[in-house]
Amino acid sequence: MDFKTLGHTCVVGLHWGDEGKGKIVDLLTEHFDVVVRYNGGGNAGHTVQIAGEKFALHLLPVGVLSPGKTAVIGPGVALDLLRMLEEIDALAARGVTVGDLKISDRANLVMPYHKKQDLLFEAALGAGKIGTTARGIGPCYADKMLRATALRVGDLLRPELFRERLTRIVELKNRTFAALYGDHRPEDAEAIADECLAAVECVRGNICDTTRFFYEAMQAGKRLLFEGANGTLLDVDHGTFPYVTSSTTSAIGVPAGAGVPASTLKTCVGVVKAYTTRVGAGPFPSELDNEIGQYIRDRGHEYGTTTGRPRRCGWFDAAAAQYSVRLSGITHMAVMHLDTLTGLERVGICTGYTTPAGPLPGFVSDSTLLAEAQPIIEFMPGWKDDPRGAGSFEKLSRPARDYLARIEALVGVPICIVSVGPDRAQTLIRSI
Ligand code: IMP
Repeated sequence: MDFKTLGHTCVVGLHWGDEGKGKIVDLLTEHFDVVVRYNGGGNAGHTVQIAGEKFALHLLPVGVLSPGKTAVIGPGVALDLLRMLEEIDALAARGVTVGDLKISDRANLVMPYHKKQDLLFEAALGAGKIGTTARGIGPCYADKMLRATALRVGDLLRPELFRERLTRIVELKNRTFAALYGDHRPEDAEAIADECLAAVECVRGNICDTTRFFYEAMQAGKRLLFEGANGTLLDVDHGTFPYVTSSTTSAIGVPAGAGVPASTLKTCVGVVKAYTTRVGAGPFPSELDNEIGQYIRDRGHEYGTTTGRPRRCGWFDAAAAQYSVRLSGITHMAVMHLDTLTGLERVGICTGYTTPAGPLPGFVSDSTLLAEAQPIIEFMPGWKDDPRGAGSFEKLSRPARDYLARIEALVGVPICIVSVGPDRAQTLIRSI
């Protein structure tokens, strides 16, 4: 894969998030001018390891770690401003200065009461809960759709109006929380307004109309890299609804979430792990709730970057990845964590699903049906050689290469990057 010739590109996860998109975005960033977040919010956790140093970003685009690049938070992001400032401070404490960061004035704000609402609502749902990250994502996007109860970044630039609107919204939230959840700890609108209006002073110069910026950047020949958050199967419309997040996580979310024409993307890189994971509730047909799942969890450090929760682990779900590839128009695939599977006697790939009524036609829209379905698993020989020692794609052991070739054939797009460890250097690029 020749990164230098890529047109505007996006990087998205093909399963349920945590695929390792951060590392791929970091790898590609040097070949692009602008790195853009277009969906999600603080629920995402993009981990990047550079020269042995680990950085976990939740809201800032990975591009902020590369000097000379412009990083953009687009209109489709649910922005928790206070948390983003904490992230900037944490980076500064480690000697990383956030350079050119642009924040869309259209992005919706995640407010403190959204996070409270997330927790209250999940608790009220009991066994029916989604298992959210409690970052206020659902309530923020719900308010965006309701419109009258939403606040956007641009509103912070008109302090009096912001205070007025916030006071009305908080009053409504307090009444709702008390009536629906018996919560009698009212939020203090004045205190929230003071905090937000003080915070915006730190980024006032970064706020702009990013739609105009993208147009002008593209006219000037700049190349854009779009960084998807979460994973395609968590897409609010196309994922395992209702066990999804509240934004368009697939590549088809780029035009709307960033504010660029639908024809913008020339390359879509789909990221998967050599196995599959999921956090929170919802169907996961290839899940391994056994010692092999634990083996993968331990070796892959499969504990959430955002919440620390242990991730559910399972065999690589090729049927689900194929669905995501078709939905997003994926052109290339990156396979992460190949090293994690080392040492297993045999490795499995989920090629489809079956039910008492017969096989399913592939990954289906009915989550209940998926939850009841049994995976069809194809086994292949495992490998003992540590892929980290291979040095190149071609020098991977025979069983590892066969495994990747089978994934490629089932999913339907070429694998151009294989990651065999967390560091930038532990990446095998294939020339195709
Ligand atoms: P929310 O996005 O916090 O509302 O969570 C909704 C569902 O999506 C939960 O099952 C979360 O665990 C899951 N989720 C959200 N973001 C991510 C992510 O970046 N990685 C993995 N799972 C996520």
